[in-house]
Amino acid sequence: MIPVLVTGAGGFIGHHLVKYLVGRGYWVRGADLKLPEYEPTAAHEFLQCDLRLHDACQRASQGMEQVYHLAADMGGIGFISGSHAEITLNNTLISAHMAKAAADNRVKRFLFSSSACVYPMHLQTSPDVTPLSEDVAWPAQPEEGYGLEKIYMEKLCQYMTEDWGLSTRVVRFHNVYGPLGTYDGGREKAPAAICRKVALCPDGGTIEVWGDGLQTRSFMYVDDCVEGLYRLMQSDYTAPLNLGTDEMISINDLVDITAAVAGKRIAKRHDVSKPQGVRGRNSDNALIRQVLGWEPATTIRAGLEPTYRWIEAELAAGRGDRLPDAAE
Ligand code: NAD
Ligand code: GDD
Repeated sequence: MIPVLVTGAGGFIGHHLVKYLVGRGYWVRGADLKLPEYEPTAAHEFLQCDLRLHDACQRASQGMEQVYHLAADMGGIGFISGSHAEITLNNTLISAHMAKAAADNRVKRFLFSSSACVYPMHLQTSPDVTPLSEDVAWPAQPEEGYGLEKIYMEKLCQYMTEDWGLSTRVVRFHNVYGPLGTYDGGREKAPAAICRKVALCPDGGTIEVWGDGLQTRSFMYVDDCVEGLYRLMQSDYTAPLNLGTDEMISINDLVDITAAVAGKRIAKRHDVSKPQGVRGRNSDNALIRQVLGWEPATTIRAGLEPTYRWIEAELAAGRGDRLPDAAE
């Protein structure tokens, strides 16, 4: 069995990835500050540790052939638009120590999870944004804090490959959603937040939507995300690669599709005082099609179905009360 480390294995994507890799016959060690919140981990071994510390990174990567590095202080736009100092410092410590430990322990492949937040803000000022191709990330103007650390780490991966021979992979995720993802507490992203609000809203009621709802995004279902991670790790491609869909929709569309999945009539109350991030964002998938001969294919309508049902069931079971004004 090939030994693999998944950092952030207590989080959303990491937990799904652990299950996927175990299913494929890998021996998986998970590492995270916390265990997965919504179901037990499938990992063969789980280290509960603080990966900001270099010793913890050394221990976690010892004896591993591959490292999928997903641990980060992370959330939706409501979370990452505040606490810039803490997020930047935490993620810099986690990722730099993890990459150095992976190099010291001579792992064969190290995959870093970057983000669409590396792309220049000035290229994302319109809802009908030109899809973002990998080559436009430089000259850089990333999202403050969170995006800055991601683009710095992309370069560190490149340098470690060039100078030390560490074989790296870099993936730029575009907004990932699905069952077992955070849906309350302040770190939730738009799909989970909208599912929660719609689930808590009576038929014919009104939910709060941040911004005017005309801002656009593409959303990737978590099964596609995990499949893409695996495929990239198997490939020989070492430069940053988009991993997302190119099905761009507005946030108003996202609400309407969620309401249709729920079978409810839902009205919107827009609040432009809330965090909104970039005005438009979409993935250009030409390179991933060329490199992997594959791209994420789950439509937002298809992916929201299981996501909404899971969040609805969570709330019906009396969970999801970490936000006092959860319906807002
Ligand atoms: P998540 O918050 O669910 O998972 C991240 C995990 O990292 C959490 O379980 C957290 O406890 C852990 N972590 C944080 N600080 C740690 C520390 N000091 N030591 C050990 N573990 C620590 O987020 P996710 O959605 O699963 O994201 C995974 C990765 O993908 C992150 O690197 C994130 O930046 C990146 N990403 C995600 C998205 C998305 O839409 N989900 C988009 C772009 C990039
Ligand atoms: N979170 C949230 N909650 N967003 C809402 C809500 C709500 O109730 N209502 C409307 N929105 C709008 C936001 O104002 C924003 O314009 C859009 O939905 C998307 O918000 P998020 O999903 O929170 O974040 P994002 O797409 O701006 O950024 C996310 O994706 C990046 C990768 O593409 C973040 O998770 C980043 O951390 C990530 O790197």
